[in-house]
Amino acid sequence: MSAAPRPIRTLLVGAGLMGAFHARTLASTIGVVLHAVVDADGDAATRVARDVDAPDHGVDAVAAIADEEIDAVVIASPAATHGALIEIAAAAGKAIFCEKPLGVTLDEATRVARIVAAAGVPFQIGFQRRFDPGTARLLALTAAGGLGTIETFRSMTADPTGPTFEAMSRSAGIFHDTLSHDMDLALAICGDIEEVATLGASMTDARFADIGKPDTTIITLRFASGALGVIENRLRTGYGYETVLEVGGSGGKGVVRDDALDSLTLFRDDRIERAHVPWFLERFAEAYRGELSAFFAAVRAGRAPDPGIAQGLRVLAACEAAERSYREGHPCRPHRTEGGGSAGVAS
Ligand SMILES: NC(=O)c1ccc[n+]([C@@H]2O[C@H](COP(=O)([O-])OP(=O)(O)OC[C@H]3O[C@@H](n4cnc5c(N)ncnc54)[C@H](O)[C@@H]3O)[C@@H](O)[C@H]2O)c1
Repeated sequence: MSAAPRPIRTLLVGAGLMGAFHARTLASTIGVVLHAVVDADGDAATRVARDVDAPDHGVDAVAAIADEEIDAVVIASPAATHGALIEIAAAAGKAIFCEKPLGVTLDEATRVARIVAAAGVPFQIGFQRRFDPGTARLLALTAAGGLGTIETFRSMTADPTGPTFEAMSRSAGIFHDTLSHDMDLALAICGDIEEVATLGASMTDARFADIGKPDTTIITLRFASGALGVIENRLRTGYGYETVLEVGGSGGKGVVRDDALDSLTLFRDDRIERAHVPWFLERFAEAYRGELSAFFAAVRAGRAPDPGIAQGLRVLAACEAAERSYREGHPCRPHRTEGGGSAGVAS
């Protein structure tokens, strides 16, 4: 009988909302040991490490990444920190899973992608929607031509409550925090984008316009294939979290929407009622677990994880073009990225 493979000893960097969720997945994944949790806020690191019984915690990400005990690093700190952390982890030869977005500027992300490619370390970007069962089936179906020639793409992502002004000022903004998910699917399903045109508005706080960060956007897309698309992002629905993905082809249409909290629909008086999904952690819980499971399976098998760094870069370029279009008031073409390649799920 062969011995069980050595567990993949993992470091989690960032113990906020997303990090706390990933910590529970890491602590319960067979073949993975969550060895340490690091956060710039020591209390957050301690809290999350205690929650999942991780043996070590601290505030020094650089020292923690350098630890020879560590095989893999899961990065769940804010977008502006991703580039530097990826660079350090790649130089140390670690397998890397990084939350979206890849970074906040295309120049830095391009440089970081080159470093990762040169280091040859496994890398996966956190576009978890691909691991949502319905979305995964639609991706596979469209890739196999099951809807014929794709003609239209529609994606909507909407958060329940708008951010405070302080949170919006600190954030990477709607074009990177929110749009990147829709863009990942647009590129994976429809291929390269020729042109994006953006309308943006500040519906929840007029000051958002002053800092160039709209909370509501409508983005139209023209793909190189000739297909057309539209993406709607809102940071305040007033009712809950919602995503809609709709792909139209010459041979049919696929729609993914799962905004119900459970399978109960109540028919009473003059209403039909279903409990709404409150937030993305509930909507995509299974997908978040699925993406980490796929990452570790790829690392263990010596396969390149997917979606990889080229897709992270390609999405960043498309989101940057959408933001540029909002600022400049005319349609823009995404910059070409290295290794971005053509259409398809593989990256
Ligand atoms: N895939 C998704 O659906 C999804 C959803 C939400 C957030 N995210 C992404 O996850 C990342 C984190 O978002 P969040 O909502 O958890 O943010 P958050 O603010 O809740 O948590 C971020 C944590 O990182 C810590 N931190 C800041 N700088 C650090 C550094 N240099 N080293 C170590 N820790 C540091 C902060 O103290 C904080 O605890 C972002 O990239 C965000 O875009 C992805």
